[in-house]
Amino acid sequence: MQPMREPFGQQTRPSISERVIDSLDERLGVRSIWAALMDRHIPRSVNWWYTLGSATLFVFTLQVVTGIFLAAYYVPSPDHAYDSVQYIMNEVIFGQVVRGLHHWGASAMVVLVVAHMLRVIVMGAYKYPREFTWTAGVFLLLLTFGFGFTGYLLPWDEKAYWATTVGTNMAGTVPVVGGFILRVLRGGADLGAVTLARFFAFHVLLLPALIVPLVGLHLFMVVRIGISGAPDRAYEREQQARQRGYSGISGLPKRSGIPKR
Ligand code: HEM
Repeated sequence: MQPMREPFGQQTRPSISERVIDSLDERLGVRSIWAALMDRHIPRSVNWWYTLGSATLFVFTLQVVTGIFLAAYYVPSPDHAYDSVQYIMNEVIFGQVVRGLHHWGASAMVVLVVAHMLRVIVMGAYKYPREFTWTAGVFLLLLTFGFGFTGYLLPWDEKAYWATTVGTNMAGTVPVVGGFILRVLRGGADLGAVTLARFFAFHVLLLPALIVPLVGLHLFMVVRIGISGAPDRAYEREQQARQRGYSGISGLPKRSGIPKR
C-alpha cells in the first residue's frame, strides 16, 4: 500500500510537548542527556536482583518527601517533641499515613540497602572498574545507619530516650576518642535539650547534605561505567555489550572486573 502523503502545504505541526522538548534541547541538550542516562545497552544476564539499588533509591526519595511533611509539624524541644508527634498522629490530616510511611520506610531502607550490598558482593560487582562505586556505597550504608540512629530519638518517648542512652554509651566505649564522641553526640554529660537539638540537626541538615551528593556520585558512576553482568554467565556477553558501547558517556574500561570461568 502507498504511504499516505501530507497534502501540499499542510504538514502536521509538532505537538506542544514536542516543541517544548525541541526548545529545551536547543538550549540545554536535554535529548543527549536523556540518551546518555536511559538509552544504554545492558548485559542480558541482568535480573531482578539488580533492582535493589533502584528500590533503595525509591524508598530514600519517599523518606525525603515524608520527612519534609513531618518537619513542618515536629518541634525539636524536650517540652514539645512528644506532643508534636502526637499532634501529627491524631490531628493532622493524613498525619498517621505520612508518619507510618516514614517510620516503616526507615526500616525498609536499611533492609534494601543491605540486600543491595549483598547482591553486589555475591555477583562480584565491587571489583574493577567499580571500586569507587563500592566505596561510595560503604559511606551510603553508614549514612543510612546514621539516619536510623538520629531519627530514633526524635519522638522523645521512653523507648527513644533509653535506646539513645544505650547507643551513645556504646559510642563512648570506642578506644581513645570514645569520650569525645560521647560529648559531641550528647552535647553534655547526659541526654537533654542539646542532645535532641543535635540529633535533629544531624537528621535533617548534616546527613542529607552528605547523602544527596553521594547518591548523585554513586549513580553517576553506575551510569558512567555501566552495569555489571552476572558472574557465571556474563563475561562474554558483557564484552559484547561493551563493544556496542553500553558504557555510556565515553571511553570503555579495559577490563570487566568479572571473574573468568
Ligand atoms: C542510599 C543507598 C544506595 C543507593 C540509593 C544505591 C543505588 C544504586 C543503584 C540505583 C544502582 C544501579 C542498579 C543496581 O545495581 O541495583 C547501584 C549500583 C551499585 N551499588 Fe549502590 N546504592 C546504595 C548503596 C550501596 C551500598 C551500601 C553499596 C556497597 C557497599 C553499593 C554498591 C554498589 C555497586 C558496586 C554498584 C554497581 C553494581 C553493578 O554494576 O553491577 N551501593 N546502586
